[in-house]
Amino acid sequence: MSDPILVAVAWPYASGSRHLGHLAGAYLPADVFARYQRLAGHDVLMVSGSDVHGTPITVRADDEGVTPDDIVDRYHNEFVRQWGELGISWDLYTTTGTENHAKVTQEMFLAQLENGHIDRRVSEQFFDPEVERFLPDRYVEGTCPHCSYVDARGDQCDNCGKTLDATELRDPRSKLSGATPVLRETEHFYYRYSDFSERVGEYLDSREGWRPHVLNFAKGWIDEGLLDRAITRDIEWGIPVPVDDLGPGKSIYVWYDAVIGYLSASQEWAQSAGDPDAWKRWWENPDARSFYFVGKDNIPFHCLFWPAQLMGAGDLNLPTNVPANQYVTFKGGKASASRGIGLTIQEGLDLFEPDAIRFALAASFPEQSDTEISVEEIARRVNEELVATWGNLVNRVLSMTNKNCEGQVLEPGPLGEQETELLATIDAAFAESAAHFEAVELRAALRVAMASAQAVNAYLNATEPWKVVKADLEQGRMMLHTALSAINGVRVLFAPFLPFTCGALDDLLGPTEGWQRLPLVTGTEIAKPKPLFKKIDLDELNLGEG
Ligand code: MF3
Ligand code: ZN
Repeated sequence: MSDPILVAVAWPYASGSRHLGHLAGAYLPADVFARYQRLAGHDVLMVSGSDVHGTPITVRADDEGVTPDDIVDRYHNEFVRQWGELGISWDLYTTTGTENHAKVTQEMFLAQLENGHIDRRVSEQFFDPEVERFLPDRYVEGTCPHCSYVDARGDQCDNCGKTLDATELRDPRSKLSGATPVLRETEHFYYRYSDFSERVGEYLDSREGWRPHVLNFAKGWIDEGLLDRAITRDIEWGIPVPVDDLGPGKSIYVWYDAVIGYLSASQEWAQSAGDPDAWKRWWENPDARSFYFVGKDNIPFHCLFWPAQLMGAGDLNLPTNVPANQYVTFKGGKASASRGIGLTIQEGLDLFEPDAIRFALAASFPEQSDTEISVEEIARRVNEELVATWGNLVNRVLSMTNKNCEGQVLEPGPLGEQETELLATIDAAFAESAAHFEAVELRAALRVAMASAQAVNAYLNATEPWKVVKADLEQGRMMLHTALSAINGVRVLFAPFLPFTCGALDDLLGPTEGWQRLPLVTGTEIAKPKPLFKKIDLDELNLGEG
């Protein structure tokens, strides 16, 4: 079982700070999954990058009176720094602004044009009569035709999550001048998604183990049929159209190019690894599997449009699974970067240690339904679960071993029944957890790790080795050896979630190798331990106004 696994992660727009909701929705689950798959022995390629095109970037630049490049540099650098601080283990985190990405995008466009899946059409698009410019996507706001939310954007409604065409909005208004836009004719390239309605439907029917909410949403869309969509826009900022017969002022549409990033980034990674064809292991090999980690607003783009784009270009692997997450709501409102609700990732990092954030968010991953978090809830989970059940356990057992076992791992005497049983429980947890990871049930995998830690606590409370060492040193040492052996397994179960503190335990107990509990190495020095985690004092946190 060592088939290659592509971990494809939604490309965040470099248009504003990301929030803890985004972290819990896509980047962190992807990282936890990738770390597990690497430990399980798979050849993992985890790629993403900053999405630097489209109106999210230019609207922000217009608002601030700076260039799109200024915006992109600012947020791309911010993201890269935060991924490092959070331990997101990318094989490559790039941007859609590279020459390589433009080339791969244009080649795919030309292949689809050649294959007859792209054509040219004249349509009416919104135009601002005051500033005399076309108003693509987010340059128009208005009332959602589906849910009547009044601040829907021209590409998507943040309230109901539906993908929109700007001309569907009721009471449209221009972001540039506030004027009521007028319709004006313009020519664009269209991707003939309708050519693929049936094939995408069959593809979805053949998927196994998908989250019900993802599959239902995608199939519901197919029931209505895929519609052809414009894949160019009246905007200068974007990838140039590789044929010049539309005239100036047009670029490729951001959503057409961004999904191609998964492929272009895989190729960029292969080039920098000095093996330019290596990307094919994940894209052409029929045994390879791909998992796309995205938020639920991205489902149509990844479950319908991206497969259709791939089908029109040749014979590359389609997504094996798109374990899209629902939303994390923070203090009642969706953590939406564009609406400024919730804690930013930076605010989270200022308040909590990286493993503490990772733990609390993972315990609330919105895998099946929207979930809520708050600063208080994060603090409670860290103190009452992470510190109380795991951090204190490690500290207790390391301290007792240091004190009673000559500061090292001693050769254990023969194990009793309870000891054998405890280690069997821990070893069985690996298969249980692996099944959850395979199904991308990461919360459940975390619960298995916690339950394993609880089993060690229960063993200690039942056998009280701190008393036994005083009466029968050999027996007490055997029990402490058992508890430390169990911890040596539990730390592996936690490793995908808690890379920093599990890394510290690696330094102490030896490297983590494979998805298994390794035997302790006799003679390993066990010094007086430092606590793995800080207990959080809510009164000391600087919570500001929020
Ligand atoms: N930039 C988009 C967003 O933030 C996500 C793009 S995912 C991609 O919602 F695959 F298309 F890149
Ligand atoms: Zn809506």
